[in-house]
Amino acid sequence: MQTLIDLRSDTVTRPTPGMRAAMAAAEVGDDVYGDDPTVNRLQAVVAERFGYPGALFFPTGTQSNLAALMAHCGRGDEFLVGQDAHIYTSEQGGAAVLGGIMPHPLEHDPAGGIQIARIAHAIKPDDVHYVRTRLLTLENTLGGRVLSAAYLRAVTDFAHGRGLRTHLDGARLFNAIVKLEVDERAAVAGFDSVSLCLSKGLGAPAGTMLLGEGAFITEARRWRKALGGGMRQAGILAAAGLYALEHQVQRLAEDHDNAQRLAAGLRAIGLAVEQPHTNMVFVDIPEDHGAALAAHLAERGILACITPRTRLVTHLDTPRGKIEAALEAFSAYPGWSRGGAHA
Ligand SMILES: Cc1ncc(COP(=O)(O)O)c(C=O)c1O
Repeated sequence: MQTLIDLRSDTVTRPTPGMRAAMAAAEVGDDVYGDDPTVNRLQAVVAERFGYPGALFFPTGTQSNLAALMAHCGRGDEFLVGQDAHIYTSEQGGAAVLGGIMPHPLEHDPAGGIQIARIAHAIKPDDVHYVRTRLLTLENTLGGRVLSAAYLRAVTDFAHGRGLRTHLDGARLFNAIVKLEVDERAAVAGFDSVSLCLSKGLGAPAGTMLLGEGAFITEARRWRKALGGGMRQAGILAAAGLYALEHQVQRLAEDHDNAQRLAAGLRAIGLAVEQPHTNMVFVDIPEDHGAALAAHLAERGILACITPRTRLVTHLDTPRGKIEAALEAFSAYPGWSRGGAHA
């Protein structure tokens, strides 16, 4: 059966006809030589919008985060990171494997940040026994949760006061910006570097921007080449990013509304659902129903990673009609009549 509704992630979107037209028309050059006019335009636009001296285009968020860590830290340095953050859980420990940089994972607070007291406690004194704590990394949004402006201000001020640098994995920062209706510059205030994905909620097929000051971007550009990210006529991808920035930011509000609708509909079936903050819905699925429910949904063309704490993600390719269809399919699962949803 053809996949009609894909709720696994917001990375599954396909470029729209308008985006494909922009890609086809892109002026290109060799970006390793700095010659690609479309990449250069995208970098200038994003640097200006977010108020940084420099921006650098990467193929992926993993590579952008890794180059940032390697530009901020040297061998034997340490970075503090939330234990649920993508950098820690899902990037194969690249900073340690390739950079000799040690992660120090810290427990999150319920809002998705890390308590300042916990950070304070984790910073190592200058002592020959210890690695050097260089960097604090945060993620916004984290599991769809939006970090508050007040927290971000306090935590970045604290980190700087203790001599740390600050990096934000903003793979889904545009969801936070649209949700809080904040200015883009305000959303990144206090961060020395920011990684912003164009390929998630914004719907581009690839592309992440790394923001920072000039010397940092120069260093990150060197690491990008070493990591295999020096692309040639990358303007075709950058054109998709420019299109996404122009046409597909404000529409994220629809994804947030659809997540609310999805949560309400699943709750009406009797499932335990966390209140979504942006475009991610977390729902408890009784373990003994997992495989049968996944098969039932797949038969109806719905893809979802069903686990005891299932994450469903709304995006560009899940308009309201598809959300309603997905809810009908969840509701029609025969297992609930055996009391599963209310168990
Ligand atoms: C929060 C976060 N950061 C970074 C990444 C890595 O991005 P990429 O898949 O482009 O390497 C992801 C990917 O889903 C992510 O969710």
